[in-house]
Amino acid sequence: MRHAKTLSAGAGLVAALLISLSGCVSGPQQNQSAGNNGGGAKTGPVKIGFSMDTLKEERWQRDKQLVEQHAKEVGAILDVQVANGDDAVQTKQADNMLTQGVDVLIVAPHNGEIAASIVEAAHRQGVPVISYDRLIKNADVDLYVSHQVEKIGEMQARYALDHVPHGNYVLIGGAPTDNNALLLRKGQENILKPAAERGDIKIVANPFAKDWKMEEALRYMEDALTANNNKIDAVVASNDGTAVGAISALERAQLAGKVLVTGQDAQLDACQKIVEGTLTMTIYKPIKPLAYSAVDAALKLAHKEPVNAPDKINNGKIDVPAILQEPQAVDKNNMVNTVIKDGYHTLEEVYAHVPKDQWPKATASNGRKAEVSPFIAAFSLLLAAFSWVR
Ligand code: BGC
Repeated sequence: MRHAKTLSAGAGLVAALLISLSGCVSGPQQNQSAGNNGGGAKTGPVKIGFSMDTLKEERWQRDKQLVEQHAKEVGAILDVQVANGDDAVQTKQADNMLTQGVDVLIVAPHNGEIAASIVEAAHRQGVPVISYDRLIKNADVDLYVSHQVEKIGEMQARYALDHVPHGNYVLIGGAPTDNNALLLRKGQENILKPAAERGDIKIVANPFAKDWKMEEALRYMEDALTANNNKIDAVVASNDGTAVGAISALERAQLAGKVLVTGQDAQLDACQKIVEGTLTMTIYKPIKPLAYSAVDAALKLAHKEPVNAPDKINNGKIDVPAILQEPQAVDKNNMVNTVIKDGYHTLEEVYAHVPKDQWPKATASNGRKAEVSPFIAAFSLLLAAFSWVR
């Protein structure tokens, strides 16, 4: 008996140690007695508020759909609000969700600095906040779920440098108000700066596109082409939207397909451009593990249970416990074995504009869509067309 007790005490100690070593988080410490989440353990279904910046890029439609799907699976009540790039709207929507008594907030911020006030307001009510995909800066964020963003920047730059070791480079960043845009640039520079210092490459332009706008990327690319007599060898665009903008400028200069262009998100139009040859690579970030990890963690935080967060990231105020998923570089050589194999897009969708006799041999899982319904693809095409016309 005594032996058993010693054993279980020992196991408890080991578990506690493992939990503290692996980085566990269990919600805000302050003002736990206030608001909906205060007091004792949560009973009944958990209410989750999901505050999103935008649905502009295809990926965010996936995020929304998968968060909704998993919330349903685990029996949580979910309210999703989309701010369409407006900080005042996002703050107000989050405030409303707090007033309506959500137990936990998941926030994909438009502006990482301004969203700190959302965390403060939530914490005043004892409501934990998960920073989703984009980091909220200078606030006591309870958890960050994302991909390894700096590594994505490194992967884009390394791919470019491996394929174009010499020449003129244009770097097109994303929204400077989005911490991801800054992390991506940091990763890109980790790889490209030494090459520039060696004199192998020359970075001739490195603008950031406000709100990740495709049309801004197009304009910056046109400027860079003009300033360098069309002598551009590689474009490190931070996401697929900005890459597509850059490709439009290259098309006008009859250079599309001749200049290496990187992207990120593996959205459908980007994957199509890869197999058609105008985009060179993208970064595939499976959304399902991200969305599911956010919902699972939200439930745990609402129940004041520990969340296992193996990573951490400093947000200017604290080291935020983090769960970061692995990104994957995709080009035309591994499109079938990554994006298509996973069912992220079907073979038919990706190769829609390629003559059928040039399609790769079908694989067992081709044609299966795991993550998203076809209307999302259609909706994003419509949105892209709409933002283009605007
Ligand atoms: C996301 C990218 C997305 C971009 C524009 C970034 O924060 O990580 O996946 O393309 O925002 O919405």
